[in-house]
Amino acid sequence: MSIQRIGVLTSGGDAPGMNAAVRSVVRTAISRGIEVMGVYRGYHGLIRDEVEPLELRSVADIIHRGGTMLYTARSESFRLEEGVRKGVDICTKHGIEGLVCIGGDGTFRGAQDLCRHGIPCIGIPATIDNDISCCQHTIGFDTALNTCVEMIDKLRDTAQSHDRVSLVEVMGRRSGELALGVGLAVGATAILVPEMKFDLVAIIDRIKAISATGKKHFIIVVAEGVGGTVEMAEKIQAATGAEARATILGHVQRGGSPTAFDRKMASEMGHHAVELLIAGKSNRVVASQDDMIRDYDIEQALSMRKPFPSDQYDIAKELSI
Ligand code: F6P
Repeated sequence: MSIQRIGVLTSGGDAPGMNAAVRSVVRTAISRGIEVMGVYRGYHGLIRDEVEPLELRSVADIIHRGGTMLYTARSESFRLEEGVRKGVDICTKHGIEGLVCIGGDGTFRGAQDLCRHGIPCIGIPATIDNDISCCQHTIGFDTALNTCVEMIDKLRDTAQSHDRVSLVEVMGRRSGELALGVGLAVGATAILVPEMKFDLVAIIDRIKAISATGKKHFIIVVAEGVGGTVEMAEKIQAATGAEARATILGHVQRGGSPTAFDRKMASEMGHHAVELLIAGKSNRVVASQDDMIRDYDIEQALSMRKPFPSDQYDIAKELSI
């Protein structure tokens, strides 16, 4: 018998575009005659039975909003077998025959657990970190990239006015993808990412050499996976004599209206996720690859390794002279 009712949740760190994905899931399902239950606050809310029906109009006017109308959380209890069983019971209680889980790798592990207990789940990658290997772009990455660039353009004004070195730490967890994209887009003098070794002394020497050619302000982008941004600013100041300031951009990177790119991709991914559930598929992650929407087995998706775009890193380095 065809599927009658599905659920949708967002979990982990929020990402701009999650709302567009939720809207797409709800509208696709309803247009195919399937009811949708919204699960609030991710797996944390699932085990607390925070489940409400979503109608066509429940998702009106959200496509352009950051954050997530379903709220989100990171659940410790859901990591335990008891938590997963509770989640299954709640799904059964509400007649949820399939669940779309929007988030990052932790969200997909939760989805895998539910699948093992007989609840078909489809994951949609949404995280500003862009650290889901099967996916070229995760929902939220493009928006965060643009937010960081906007912020750093402002920092550049003040760095230039004071002849300063501005070290800017961006998010990304263990991934340097956001830092790399941002660094290339703002023309950073150096980009420090966990994937590539760097030598602070060599960076200091470069600042001195470039200073001698007349440039007096510098932007250095540091991935949070490298860290130590404040200490590095102190060392650079001591070694170069130039004033250095550290800025940790923080959670501002996760907010704001999603870009057209993120809204469009989220709409396509939400649509694809519902089609997978209708086709009787389970345990899959939707992914974007070369402008195509594809899907992978969750286990396979989690074990894949994405090569770091070192060509972009090399270009950024060559241009920062
Ligand atoms: O995964 C998204 C992310 O913003 C990471 O870049 C960052 O390390 C982490 O979440 C921050 O988490 P929290 O919102 O719990 O501080």
